[in-house]
Amino acid sequence: MTPRPLFAFAAFALMAAFSSVRAADATLVLRADQPGPVINRNIYGHFSEHLGHCIYEGIWVGPDSPIPNTKGYRNDVLAALKALKVPVLRWPGGCFADEYHWKDGIGPRESRPSMFNSHWGGVVENNHFGTHEFLDLCEMLGIEPYVCLNVGSGSVQEAMEWVEYMTSPASSPMANLRRAHGRDKPWKVTYLAIGNESWGCGGNMTPEFYADNYRRYNTFAKNYTDNRLYRVACGPNSNDYNWTDVLMKNAGGHMNGLSLHMYTLPTGDWKKKGTSTGFAEAEWFSTLRNTLGMDELVTKHSAIMDKYDPAKKVALIVDEWGTWYDVEPGTNPGFLFQQNSLRDAIVAALNFHIFHKHADRVTMANIAQIVNVLQSVILTDKEKMVLTPTYHAFEMFKVHQDATSLRVDLVTPDYAFGSEKIPAVSASASRDTAGKVHLSLVNTDPHNAITVTCALAGVEAKSISGRILTADAMDAHNTFAAPDVVKPAAFSGAKLEAGKVVVALPAKSVVVLEL
Ligand code: AHR
Repeated sequence: MTPRPLFAFAAFALMAAFSSVRAADATLVLRADQPGPVINRNIYGHFSEHLGHCIYEGIWVGPDSPIPNTKGYRNDVLAALKALKVPVLRWPGGCFADEYHWKDGIGPRESRPSMFNSHWGGVVENNHFGTHEFLDLCEMLGIEPYVCLNVGSGSVQEAMEWVEYMTSPASSPMANLRRAHGRDKPWKVTYLAIGNESWGCGGNMTPEFYADNYRRYNTFAKNYTDNRLYRVACGPNSNDYNWTDVLMKNAGGHMNGLSLHMYTLPTGDWKKKGTSTGFAEAEWFSTLRNTLGMDELVTKHSAIMDKYDPAKKVALIVDEWGTWYDVEPGTNPGFLFQQNSLRDAIVAALNFHIFHKHADRVTMANIAQIVNVLQSVILTDKEKMVLTPTYHAFEMFKVHQDATSLRVDLVTPDYAFGSEKIPAVSASASRDTAGKVHLSLVNTDPHNAITVTCALAGVEAKSISGRILTADAMDAHNTFAAPDVVKPAAFSGAKLEAGKVVVALPAKSVVVLEL
């Protein structure tokens, strides 16, 4: 392990301050005197698609189900999401959004027409979960809805009418249709995506063609009375920098946000992505290395956006991120069902830190997906439910929601594997509105504990408490039979010594401290 300087200036200052620190230890200065942008709570957002058992069985079982439910939503999932303080939820897709026709999902459920879900598993969608079910769920849990319009196979009129149906208070045709289906007042819908992956499943468009279509659809997505839409254009696929350039040039003045999708595959190969559990250290390492690529993507897309929008009025909305593994053996390949291990919690924490670092540009991120699909926070099987390690990472990090980011100058050893290396420690800090300072730390090294010595500037620690998420195995995970293998525990490894916080950070762990 060799120290890796992350901030040259800080490294120099720290050398003097920490001359007695061992080479394998990390040092950090928490600059509470240098506040940065607020960490928008929507960075802790989620995504729910009509895909596999995300909506049906995951969230919605219907009011007649023997599974305990409230108006059709399963009670266990409702309670778990409430505890998580989910700020924003994207729906109905994903690829599904561009083949979804919202009028099929309103009215009496038994008379709603079915459709073929051509993207996901070739199943028949009965449309029992539609606009009312989604928006009522959000309202019930205090979640901001984030609705994605159908640009790929829909029409401008259909999109325009949907916005009217959801948000118009007038006595207008669509608002009256909503009333006829039992909802008088409009819902509050702020976040609106205009198409999904329009470069791929959303229509295989060129950026020029999509930018024109964005402008057209956007024109007819109206602000009704005091409902102000926050308009998100479909952004690039990973490192397609040309897409960002064209969108910003041709439509940047008409949008509030531009989306970005980035998935972490252990192998980087879509044909053989790697397994969710039972992996060797090589795939632990490559998964974390690939996750850290998010920083480069955000930095480079943001730099292109700066050319057209130096004031950073247009946000980068990372509305799909997370791990994507080979599906669990024996499951429908189109359902994207995967287990979730300690590695996923580390992936989540690393991504959170990257989003915090770019909080001036990244104001929303939505993990894919909330229940039973890809990097879920919840898994269900009939009446059973389990919280994944990723759930616990979200829950531990919720203290950062809407807090002010604080500069952190970190010098960390590397975690080396073969001929490659990544930083062993990742850190981020914030001050919440009550004045409490939180410091989150990740140790990516699966073998070595690391001592992190934190000097404090602009804050004095009178006491310190914290929680840790770790386990014995890299692929430790929770199952329906053993749901608590990976869960947060009180952390006693942080001590105050001569005004510094000294943290014994165990191997493969996530720690959140409160000063
Ligand atoms: O999250 C699964 C799929 O991944 C989404 O439907 C699509 O937008 C992306 O390709």
